[in-house]
Amino acid sequence: MSNKMWGGRFTGRPDAIMEEINVSIDVDRHLYAQDIAASKAHAAMLSAQGIITASDAKNIGKGLDTILSEIDNGAFDFKRALEDIHMNVESRLSELIGPAAGRLHTARSRNDQVATDFRLYVRDEIDEIDAALSAFQQALVTRALEHAATVMPGFTHLQTAQPVTLGHHLLAYVEMAARDRGRFADARRRLNESPLGAAALAGTSFPIDRAATAKALGFDRPMANSLDAVSDRDFVLEALSAASIASVHLSRFAEELVLWTSPLVGLVRLSDKFTTGSSIMPQKRNPDAAELVRAKTGRVIGALTALLIVMKGLPLAYQKDMQEDKQGAMEAFGALSLAIRAMTGMVLDLVPDEARMKQAAGEGYATATDLADWLVRTLKMPFRDAHHVTGRIVALASKQGVALHELPLQAMQEVEPKITADALRGLSVEASVRSRTSYGGTAPKNVLAQAKAWARRLEKARKRP
Ligand code: ARG
Repeated sequence: MSNKMWGGRFTGRPDAIMEEINVSIDVDRHLYAQDIAASKAHAAMLSAQGIITASDAKNIGKGLDTILSEIDNGAFDFKRALEDIHMNVESRLSELIGPAAGRLHTARSRNDQVATDFRLYVRDEIDEIDAALSAFQQALVTRALEHAATVMPGFTHLQTAQPVTLGHHLLAYVEMAARDRGRFADARRRLNESPLGAAALAGTSFPIDRAATAKALGFDRPMANSLDAVSDRDFVLEALSAASIASVHLSRFAEELVLWTSPLVGLVRLSDKFTTGSSIMPQKRNPDAAELVRAKTGRVIGALTALLIVMKGLPLAYQKDMQEDKQGAMEAFGALSLAIRAMTGMVLDLVPDEARMKQAAGEGYATATDLADWLVRTLKMPFRDAHHVTGRIVALASKQGVALHELPLQAMQEVEPKITADALRGLSVEASVRSRTSYGGTAPKNVLAQAKAWARRLEKARKRP
């Protein structure tokens, strides 16, 4: 038996290997809700335009509702011989309502169908990721409010650089997540046009109403060019680009958690909920969730790279290559969503070791810049000279094995006679962060104000309908 959906001119069955390479139901079955929604919108429009009868449209609609609940309840028998979700649904519809089912495919093609379904799917994924990113920001802000004044070491080159506050560090990721959300929102805006009614590639001779189906599916408008509508996948590429950048942000944070929880560093402890033990070493607490967040990035960037390569040589319009657009993207959005939720969980109950953080913040002469700044401010020294003088004082302290603020004033005065006790007061880590009041700086009062502003902004966004 040849394929009953397209086998009119065929007499033989496809080879088993042909079927194996062609089948996509294992992947596109995840589009069932979108496929059925689009078919319902299409049938209602065909009837409103007098292209099919109202009674056929009603039966089609009822049949599609039955199929939706069959799939929801796990009672649907997906058939590989029917290739994809579109033909599985249509075939079941004809079992349920008979010949009227055959009218549903009037004035459309699987090409505009799949483009429509996948746009709807990616739109749903974007909305889910946006909600997860918002919860992630909320968690970061909650902890930042709590730790606006908790001093920790700030690093450049992974060398202790200057003291910062933990709240400031956490708010850095709130800003990154905000830009990630902005990128997803931009992608969503461009994505939100309907391909439905572009048909195979050239449009249709039937008097369809593309604006009506676009509206019914929540799109802003129909896509203006039928060839473009069925043949581009830039909407997936954009969402995957945004996902890749977001994943890279999460991966950097995950790496910090791995580093901070290492006994060599010991700045933070993750809760039992987000650590695992070792089967052989009883003392171990492994940050597996953070490591996996770091690793999932490969999957997301891999999906973007794979689809860019699939698309790069394709002439217009639809090519079967494009069937390969879904699996990687679906896995990537799932991986990102999980990674965001895992990071949110870790942020909410991580326990900083405040004493260790404070101690580490002062190691490595982290307040040397503060001494140089004092020389500039009080003695009106050019910064370059102040840098040099401070360097000599650091060398002296290092030789004696003491911290900068522990060095006797006399010792400093041997390097620069005009230094007074006032300079020493600014050299504690608390004084150092307190002085960083420039806009965007790490001073606790800045951090508190920023965290409060973010809390208000997130609260307002939640209340928006
Ligand atoms: N399963 C196909 C895909 O995902 C649906 C479109 C098939 N169209 C076609 N003319 N063979 O791309």
